[in-house]
Amino acid sequence: MGKRFLTVLAVAVLMGTVVLLGLSGAAQEVPDTFVIKSKLWNAHTKSGVTLSHKKHSTEYGAKCTDCHHVIKDGKNVWKEGDKVQRCMECHNEPTIKGEKKLPPDKQKLNLKLAYHNNCQGCHKALKKEDKEKYANIPTTCIKCHPKQE
Ligand code: HEC
Ligand code: HEC
Ligand code: HEC
Ligand code: HEC
Repeated sequence: MGKRFLTVLAVAVLMGTVVLLGLSGAAQEVPDTFVIKSKLWNAHTKSGVTLSHKKHSTEYGAKCTDCHHVIKDGKNVWKEGDKVQRCMECHNEPTIKGEKKLPPDKQKLNLKLAYHNNCQGCHKALKKEDKEKYANIPTTCIKCHPKQE
């Protein structure tokens, strides 16, 4: 075997290891807090939304399945530890004006409604349950979108 071949082999093995580490290490790393700013929209009209991801599932008592799902036969079959796909991989209908006038099947796949129904839906329901306890839960535009783009 030539020296050159061995070098190429060594580099290939090293790269394979790095790729494998990357895949196994990063796949289920849950960030504490991040800004939601979906790439489905290249022209955003509102600022990105900060989600305290970790706090939601610890302090705030939200279950992973309150936000993550894979629907099969009308049921959520996603469970903790499964791969997480971006919301926009499935909710790829991009309308941001008049989205509530879309036909029902399109509304279900609209990204703005997916976020609003999920985030606002829970916030509004909790506030309705207990007005005092949830007096500060974000239900107005400015509380989630701090500024216009
Ligand atoms: C309040 C809603 C909510 C809760 C509760 C929640 N998540 Fe998430 N999570 C999100 C959103 C939104 C994203 C970003 C998705 C996107 O970019 O489309 C995300 C991203 C992730 C990612 C990163 C995916 C990537 O490749 O970057 C992982 C992993 C994840 N969540 C796992 C979990 C687990 C495990 C739990 C429960 C312990 C959980 N989440 C609870 C909303 C939530
Ligand atoms: C693997 C594909 C997939 C991913 C990923 C996904 N969804 Fe969904 N989601 C669906 C499907 C399909 C439905 C419609 C189910 C039905 O027919 O009722 C749905 C329904 C919903 C609904 C209820 C319908 C509505 O508009 O009120 C909300 C809210 C929602 N998704 C939000 C989200 C959010 C937020 C994320 C990311 C954290 C997300 N989804 C990720 C496939 C997905
Ligand atoms: C299952 C219920 C639930 C869902 C779903 C949910 N939240 Fe919340 N959220 C809460 C609770 C509970 C609080 C804490 C309110 C308090 O104690 O005042 C909160 C607080 C917040 C706050 C203010 C405090 C902080 O930690 O920043 C923001 C911003 C927020 N949520 C954004 C979001 C976004 C964005 C989504 C959707 C991706 C979302 N939430 C989905 C329950 C939920
Ligand atoms: C509980 C949090 C929450 C509240 C309250 C909220 N939104 Fe959003 N909204 C989101 C999230 C999360 C997204 C997805 C952000 C992204 O990917 O850029 C979004 C996306 C949008 C988008 C599409 C993206 C863009 O930048 O153009 C518009 C428009 C929007 N919201 C308008 C509003 C308006 C108007 C209100 C008040 C009536 C409001 N939102 C209230 C969480 C919220």
